[in-house]
Parts: sequence; structure tokens; C-alpha cells
Amino acid sequence: MSEKEKRRYRSAEWFGKNDKDAFIHRSWMRNQGLPSHVFDGRPVIGICNTWSELTPCNAHFRGLAEHVKRGVYEAGGFPVEFPVTSTGESNIRPTAMFLRNLVSMDVEESIRANPIDGVVLLCGCDKTTPALLMGAASVDLPTIVLSGGPMLNGRYRGRTIGSGTAVWQLSEDVKSGLISSDEFMAAEAAMSRSAGHCMTMGTASTMASMAEALGMALPGNAAIPAVDARRMVLANAVGHRITRMVEEDLKPSQILTRAAFENAIRVNGAIGGSTNAVVHLLAIAGRVGIELSLEDWDRLGRDIPTIVDLMPSGRFLMEDFYYAGGLPVVMRRLAEEGHLHREALTVTGQPVWEGIRDAECFDTEVIRPADRPLTESGGIAVLRGNVAPGGCILKPSAASPELMVHRGRAVVFESIEDYHARIGDPDLDIDETCIMVLKYCGPVGYPGFAEVGNMGLPPKVLQKGVRDMIRLSDGRMSGTAYGTVLLHTVPEAAIGGPLALIENGDMIEVDVPGRRIHLDVGAEELERRKAAWTPPAAHSETGYTRLFTDHVMQADTGCDFDFLLGTRGSAVPRESH
Ligand code: FES
Ligand code: MG
Repeated sequence: MSEKEKRRYRSAEWFGKNDKDAFIHRSWMRNQGLPSHVFDGRPVIGICNTWSELTPCNAHFRGLAEHVKRGVYEAGGFPVEFPVTSTGESNIRPTAMFLRNLVSMDVEESIRANPIDGVVLLCGCDKTTPALLMGAASVDLPTIVLSGGPMLNGRYRGRTIGSGTAVWQLSEDVKSGLISSDEFMAAEAAMSRSAGHCMTMGTASTMASMAEALGMALPGNAAIPAVDARRMVLANAVGHRITRMVEEDLKPSQILTRAAFENAIRVNGAIGGSTNAVVHLLAIAGRVGIELSLEDWDRLGRDIPTIVDLMPSGRFLMEDFYYAGGLPVVMRRLAEEGHLHREALTVTGQPVWEGIRDAECFDTEVIRPADRPLTESGGIAVLRGNVAPGGCILKPSAASPELMVHRGRAVVFESIEDYHARIGDPDLDIDETCIMVLKYCGPVGYPGFAEVGNMGLPPKVLQKGVRDMIRLSDGRMSGTAYGTVLLHTVPEAAIGGPLALIENGDMIEVDVPGRRIHLDVGAEELERRKAAWTPPAAHSETGYTRLFTDHVMQADTGCDFDFLLGTRGSAVPRESH
């Protein structure tokens, strides 16, 4: 391209003039030691950083950003790193999900307000990926996701242990008397022993895979360990690619098509991905005006076997997945079986097929052959019935086959505190045939839709050697968790959903193959209970909590704020001075 033909990017509205305003925009930037030539009209690449020492999964991101910057400079762009609110799953209360939409607003407004032509999203810990994608999608400037990568495999006493998954397993081992509390505590440092996010197929690894499957990340993005030098090389390549994407004006709206979402849903089934992906993909789709529904999840995932043998569904971890060939192998397999839209465009500027067609599998235990899947039907099951008219979901690959059709007596907990107070009581009237019900954990109820749905089993059941029971709630569960756990019940209890009306001793029928859940209580009795029900008091009349509870949507539409749906574009706002 000759100098004359060079496109004028939006950043030129800040830096490309010779007036007082441009003086202001450039002069203050120069206090960072920037030379004149970075203001010559080259693409300005924002590096949206979720670094924080309170988000340990993303604590290595300042170093990673340096590798992106090198790539941008090498490609002739001008990189500028900027922070947004960071959500660390392991620390944030009441739940990091409470802040996902807030972060998305931070991302959207930060990009639009600044001299930025293209964006690299540094994503890692669970909510950081959907939050950044949602915000960037609503601006629709050229965007690419770079994930921070998983931690190395946890190693403890000769065993491989996985993030989160080992916490649930070991804490049950303590409760059932298999290990001591000292042994349990000693696993802490063994589980999280390098930079990176959870190395199970939890929500972080799932969302990194979703970004790759959607075409919003370079092939291979999901699995490279955070500390592997090849992650830095990928960061460099991202810096190169985003600079070209600005020149090509390749935007998320061209990539995040219906085909891309269908690909991602199928990939989620094949990897045994987190149930949280359901909510996050629905939310991202809402930002780009794609009508995605729970039915799409059920229908598209139904015939997809889970072939990736990773915890929590299986045996291995992300490091093993990378050495086995990573996500491109899975996507190639899906494509060859006719389950992938090969022509879907990606950030490479090429159809998705181009990035996966040569992928090779190096370990058939980790990525299993088609005739030896981990689970035949790896998708997400969406159940409906009088107790969940808007649906509830279950991840079959993490559930017990013998509980797929079950009728059990409800044991009800009115809150997570109620559960904690009573679950250890030897006199609690419960056995393994019961269905544990937890209320008021939804978006409005908690508030924020907490990951408490995978309630631990009662100690007296664990001591019998039983490791799974059916659990039903309007909450979520960690992507690292497992069990026959029915989640995301819509409408949630706090807004008067029928879940709120379940009482101890009610019989509940669960039929996963039939996609049905039924509370065996007559309509008249339910009416009576409904009339006697009073909604819980508001968590707060003011502040962000008020904004959140007033505007959050239900789980079946992705829990975004109602006023954030759609794309608002990248028009340059009016001058500030
Ligand atoms: Fe950050 Fe799991 S706690 S990814
Ligand atoms: Mg989590």
C-alpha cells in the first residue's frame, strides 16, 4: 500500500492533527518517552490487560503483554497497554460472576473512549474471557483474544492433581476420613505450582477453547501452558496479526456469526467443557445480535461425544492436552465428521478449516479416537418441566449414568448458609436416593449467580463410599466440578420461580434422556404455596448491587444486563477539551 492510499484510522482523530487538541493528546503521551513516529498514523493497538495480583491466574500478564508489544512494533503498529477491572475467581465475593457485566462495560467504554484501532484481549481466569469478549464485541473494532494459558499439572505425593477438581475430591476424602486435614492442606502448594489459570477443563480452559473455536483466537491458543516459551511466541504472533487485522478491517461482527457459535457449542461437547460456557456464549451472542438459545445447546451438542479425557470429566490436564496436539486436533476431528462449519472466518483472515486441517494427534489416551469416547453424548442437556419452565442444565460427561433417570425425595436448603449449617448433622433425614435442592443462588438471589450448585454430599453418605447424588439449584457450578448437578434453573427462586416452592419430602422426577424434570406436587397445592410465598428482601437499594439486580437477565439468556444487548460501535466521541 502506498503512503497516499494508507487508510486513516480512528486514532488519527486524536494524534493526526496539528491543532491544540492533538497537541494535548500527543504531548502527554510523550512523557512515556515515545518518539514522534508512533503518531504517524500507524495502527494503534490497545492491549486490554486483566493483570492483577488478586487474580493469580492472570498475575503473569504484564510479561505476556511485552511479547504482544514486540509483535505489534515488529509489524509496524503502536501498542498501548491499558488495565481493566480484573475478576479473580478464587478471591472475589460473592462471586466473580457478579462483576462480569461490570468488566464488560469497563472494556467497552475504555476501548471506545481512547485512540485505539484494534484490541488484544488478555484473558485468563474464568470471567475475564467472556467479559472482555462481550465488551469488545459491542465496540466491534478488530479484536483478537490471547489467553494466558493454564498452569502446569499439579503434582502431589506422586499423583497428578487438577485445579479445583482436586479440592472437591480431597475435601470429600477428609470428610469421609480417608486423609487427614494436614494432608489436605499440604496439597495447596502442590496444586497451583506455576503461573497460569486452572489446568483442568474448568471454565478458564473452556472459555480459552471457546475463543479459539469461535475464531476469535489464533489456532493453538487454548492449551499452551502459561510458562511454556511457545505461549510467548504466540503472544508475538498475536501482536503481528492484530496489526494486519486493523489494516484489513477484520471485525468481530464478521467472525462471531451463527456458524461460529454452532462450532463453539460442538467443540464444548467434544472437550467436556464447563456448564458456564452456556451462559457466557449466550451473553456474547446477545452482544452481536445472534439469536442463540438453550435449545441450540441441547440440539447441537447431543450427538457430540466427549473425546478429550480431561478432569473434571476424565483423567488428564491441560498440559497433557497441549502435548497431545491441543484443540486443533479436536476441531479437525469434528470437521471430518461433518460437525463443524469449515468456512467460518477466524482472526487469521482464513476459514477455520485452514488452521486445523494439518493438526496431528500425539496421544490417543488424552484425545481419544472416535470409537473410544469418554461419553457418547457430551453436550449440555437442557431439562424442562413444572419446576424449571425456562429450563435447567446438566453436563452428562460429569454426571453418573445410573442417576440419569431417577425419582427422589427432596431435601431442601433455603440458602447456602442453611446448607452449611445442616449438612454435617448426623440426624439430617437424607440418603443417597434423595435429591438435594438449593434455592436463592441465581443472578438476583445470591446476588451474582454463585458457583454453589455442586453442594458437597452429606458426610454420612460419603462414609458409605457414595460419591454422587442428584443436586438441583438455580446456581452455577465451577467448571472444575463434577457430579449429577442440575443448574441454572429458570426462573430463579428469588424472582418467584417454582424452585422456591419445593418443600422437604416432595418427590422430584429427573429424566435426562427425556429432557424432563417434574415436581410431583399438584397444581393446586403449588398455587397455594405460591400465594403464601414472599420474595426475599433486596440485597441493596443502592450502588452496583441495585443496578445488577434491577437489570440482570436470567440464565437462559446469558445473564447480561438488559441494556447492554447489541453493538454500539466505535464512532469517535466528541472532543474532550
Ligand atoms: Fe482462575 Fe480457575 S481460579 S481459572
Ligand atoms: Mg469458577
